[in-house]
Amino acid sequence: MGDYQATYTRSIEDPEAFWADAATAVLWRRTPTRVLDDSRAPFYRWFPDGELNTCENALDRHVAAGHGDRNALVYDSPVTGSKRTYTYAELLAEVATFAGALSSLGVGKGDRVVIYLPMVPEAVVAMLACARLGAVHSVVFGGFAASELAARVEDARPRVLVTASCGIEVARVVEYKPLVDRALSLSSHQPDHVVVLQRPQAVAAMTAPRDLDWHDLTAAAEPAECVTVSATDPLYILYTSGTTAKPKGVVRDNGGHAVALTWSMANIYDVGPGDVWWTASDVGWVVGHSYIVYAPLLVGATTVLYEGKPVGTPDAGAFWRVISEYAVQAMFTAPTAFRAVKKEDPTGRLLSAYDVSSLRTLFLAGERLDPDTWEWATERLGVPVIDHWWQTETGWPIAANLRGLEPMAIKPGSPTVPVPGYDVRVLDPSGAEVPRGTEGAICIKLPLPPGTLPTLWGDDERFVASYLAAFDGYYLTGDGGYVDEDGYLFVMGRTDDVINVAGHRLSTGSMEAVIAGHPAVAECAVIGVHDELKGQVPRGLVVLKAGVDVDPDSLRAELVQRVRDEIGAVASFRQVDVVAGLPKTRSGKILRRSLRAIADGVDEPVPSTIEDPAVLDALRPVLQT
Ligand code: COA
Ligand code: AMP
Repeated sequence: MGDYQATYTRSIEDPEAFWADAATAVLWRRTPTRVLDDSRAPFYRWFPDGELNTCENALDRHVAAGHGDRNALVYDSPVTGSKRTYTYAELLAEVATFAGALSSLGVGKGDRVVIYLPMVPEAVVAMLACARLGAVHSVVFGGFAASELAARVEDARPRVLVTASCGIEVARVVEYKPLVDRALSLSSHQPDHVVVLQRPQAVAAMTAPRDLDWHDLTAAAEPAECVTVSATDPLYILYTSGTTAKPKGVVRDNGGHAVALTWSMANIYDVGPGDVWWTASDVGWVVGHSYIVYAPLLVGATTVLYEGKPVGTPDAGAFWRVISEYAVQAMFTAPTAFRAVKKEDPTGRLLSAYDVSSLRTLFLAGERLDPDTWEWATERLGVPVIDHWWQTETGWPIAANLRGLEPMAIKPGSPTVPVPGYDVRVLDPSGAEVPRGTEGAICIKLPLPPGTLPTLWGDDERFVASYLAAFDGYYLTGDGGYVDEDGYLFVMGRTDDVINVAGHRLSTGSMEAVIAGHPAVAECAVIGVHDELKGQVPRGLVVLKAGVDVDPDSLRAELVQRVRDEIGAVASFRQVDVVAGLPKTRSGKILRRSLRAIADGVDEPVPSTIEDPAVLDALRPVLQT
């Protein structure tokens, strides 16, 4: 048996011993004597009597060990023309000071802080400062509109909101502060203070005494020490799209998170102290939380924070420049980013201008990695291109080719094998396991490993209903797929109404809710359809109220703008058609799956429960354009 098989088997057969060993890599303030508390199953808790501080593990620990001069964070921002490197000692000083600033505003253990910032070092500083105080951060992606921010403020009820005057999208300045002001005007909950990082590209209007300038506040602050928290105390809440309009607040604890992420860096990514690691994503997504901020710092590596795009800042050679400039050893991004590069520079001509020989591995996740993109990246870079699969809820990979444990043969289209700790099973609708090669619902037998969500913020019931109710004793991932004869997992796509647009997870249900709010719309459906660059894009179909007489072009423009205003530019909602009717089952459920199949040109049987097949047939010409 190779290292993988033995390790995997041990993790499933004796999880307590397995995770107790992994936990020795973390600095505890009180070493856990218990590993798994299953007394309230299906609510499992890892390391229930352990105590630690996540920021201490990410920063203080390395400085105390004499590595204060090692680079912790490299900030590279082609959109502002700035670069800056922080050593571990420098980053610690910034974080301790901002923690002191938050503390002076009354933020303490358990308080929430919403962070709505672009890809600037202050985003990392603010997250770690919360961790230092035992406060719970909730980072909101900058591409979301005011009402999405409001929904998160309403649910998380933060004491403080941290933002910046603006973000920069290639050459477009996106003012954040007016969005924050609008979000707070929509929310019944009001934070005591809004801390604003003024950037030179836009100056935010401030409302005294609520709004405070980041620099004034930190100039007057005393550094704060790390606060001891329980392993099971929340570190952060990250909202993600579910099937309904209301986002789900995924909770992450402190202890299991530190243990699992530390284990993943060595065993999955093969990255350790002093290595240079770059995740090109955004701190607003789980990939950014885990692999821009926490994991690389927990293991003492150098993390690159890139405020730019794969193309357009200034060209499709941007990734190669960053790799060569900082001698990046391992990189992680979403396949869509590579598709964008490939589209602009199909032959990889720009690569020849840079020395990318430092790169050992490219990791891709966030959406299905199509074999074409895999092949293109592999051929251009000449290093292993590793697909791996996970989700906001799990916080770290469920399936991967474990480069640090036992590198395996790559099968394009597959994220390889289940990661130790995850008992992955593929089930049929009755809950029985399907034979190898047969598609079904990908589930994980409980308990989930450390680092995964213990519940949803303030909503245990929704946690059970969303993830645990479908199959007793299993966590439902929401993805469908199969395991092949060699034990390789293939993830084929979501089985619910979640779509993945340029690696961004979005809910078609929330777009439908926005469209249905238009006075002319009687009913609507939004489906995710295949897109060459973004993987999927949303597409809308609307039925007008009887007697409504509107110009279809202006209605289309209004609906597109409505989704942009209510959900955000990130939804990439551009295509919507006015149709006579929507296909439904006899019980009135819209047949979205059939609509999607027609739009994508996939041959799929029409369900026998369809009420009127003629309605679906009438839509074929519309959907096939
Ligand atoms: N703040 C404000 N607006 C944002 C934003 C942010 N942080 N991020 C994206 N947007 C806007 C974009 O400017 C764009 O606006 P537009 O409709 O006016 O052009 C819109 O949201 C859609 O963005 P996106 O889907 O990212 O498309 P794009 O055409 O700007 O870029 C890629 C396409 C592939 C280059 C880009 O998606 C990318 O780099 N993806 C990397 C993958 C990634 O980060 N995945 C996250 C999970 S790993
Ligand atoms: P998010 O929670 O935003 O990380 O999105 C998670 C979802 O993205 C998963 O449930 C999958 O549908 C999809 N996904 C992520 N990584 C992969 C992958 N490697 N292959 C296929 N789908 C993926």
